[in-house]
Amino acid sequence: MIASLPSPVSQSVVGRLTRAAIFLVATINPGSEAEETVRELCADLSSLVRAVGFRNLEGQLSCVMGFGSAAWDRLFFSPRPKELHPFREIRGVHHAVSTPGDILFHIRAASMDLCFELATHLMARLAGAVTTVDEVHGFKFFDDRDLIGFVDGTENPVDQAAVDATIIGDEDADFAGGSYVIVQKYLHDLERWNKVPVEEQENIIGRHKLSDIEQRDADKKPYAHNVLTNIEENGEQLQIVRDNMPFGEIGKGEFGTYFIGYARSPQRIEKMLENMFVGNPPGTYDHLLDFSRAVTGCLFFVPTADFLDNVAPEPVKPAAAPDESPQTDDSPAQSSPRDGSLGIGSLKKEAGHE
Ligand code: HEM
Repeated sequence: MIASLPSPVSQSVVGRLTRAAIFLVATINPGSEAEETVRELCADLSSLVRAVGFRNLEGQLSCVMGFGSAAWDRLFFSPRPKELHPFREIRGVHHAVSTPGDILFHIRAASMDLCFELATHLMARLAGAVTTVDEVHGFKFFDDRDLIGFVDGTENPVDQAAVDATIIGDEDADFAGGSYVIVQKYLHDLERWNKVPVEEQENIIGRHKLSDIEQRDADKKPYAHNVLTNIEENGEQLQIVRDNMPFGEIGKGEFGTYFIGYARSPQRIEKMLENMFVGNPPGTYDHLLDFSRAVTGCLFFVPTADFLDNVAPEPVKPAAAPDESPQTDDSPAQSSPRDGSLGIGSLKKEAGHE
């Protein structure tokens, strides 16, 4: 069982927040050739990151690769991560759209040159196999503020708390060490936002704008962003790790925040989204959404680095279990190898690749 292997190595989900990032979402083109090209890249991802990252060791280059629900079935068959499903749109007071996305690259570094170089190599490897559906180049703004002027990221868990919030444990032993990630691209109506008095902006976020100090609980409005995204289970706060980035195109009047949230279960992020878009109680929604529109929405599973290193180019379909009726080729995701392996066993690692 994967769970009993010595600690699976996670991808760099819990990386330090960096000054630059590229968020690339792509769909996999039809055909088995495209799938093979993607699988080949999976196994080479870590060496590509090493090669580009070695050119500037202070540059903290990292890359997380995630897979959408349908892509998982096309590429890896079964077993499936327990909670992987397509992003569920929410139609509340505001609309959280669900948009296409088979693979995500979340590339982070201290400077954009490293991100750009790695993204170029990744997409060159995937040429003809994928179609880019969204590409956002994010930057850190003054004092780690987003473009609405508030410091963004303050309450992120760090160190072990960040690991506990994001990395799957025994609850899905086959995928221990993995994570889930939800991304949404938000566009702000900054002209309208900037006309809102600062005091009301602070009520909407639940923090003071200049000092970044949290409002006292008694002063917080029920529609404040930090009230609606603060969720608990059995008296314990359920946390996620965010690495939002500002982005924009001034000439187009486009000013945005790229939301990215990692969690060991997508349910926590989904609950936050429900609170924001529908309201808690319904109707008491997040007023930040009166000025910020979600134009994308995708959910991905982030397997471990070990998993990626061991992906074989050819499809490895699970053998039918003796106690189950035989599977047909077109129902690959419904069977599961009984040895608990991920059914990927390439010998690539033994051939010198780590
Ligand atoms: C327009 C998009 C968004 C913007 C501009 C934004 C901005 C902010 C800001 C300024 C804070 C306060 C400082 C901090 O702790 O980071 C914050 C907190 C937070 N946000 Fe967002 N956010 C956005 C979307 C989201 C979404 C979609 C979620 C989750 C689904 C989310 C979850 C959280 C959480 C969990 C906190 C910490 C709350 C606390 O415990 O105090 N945010 N956000």
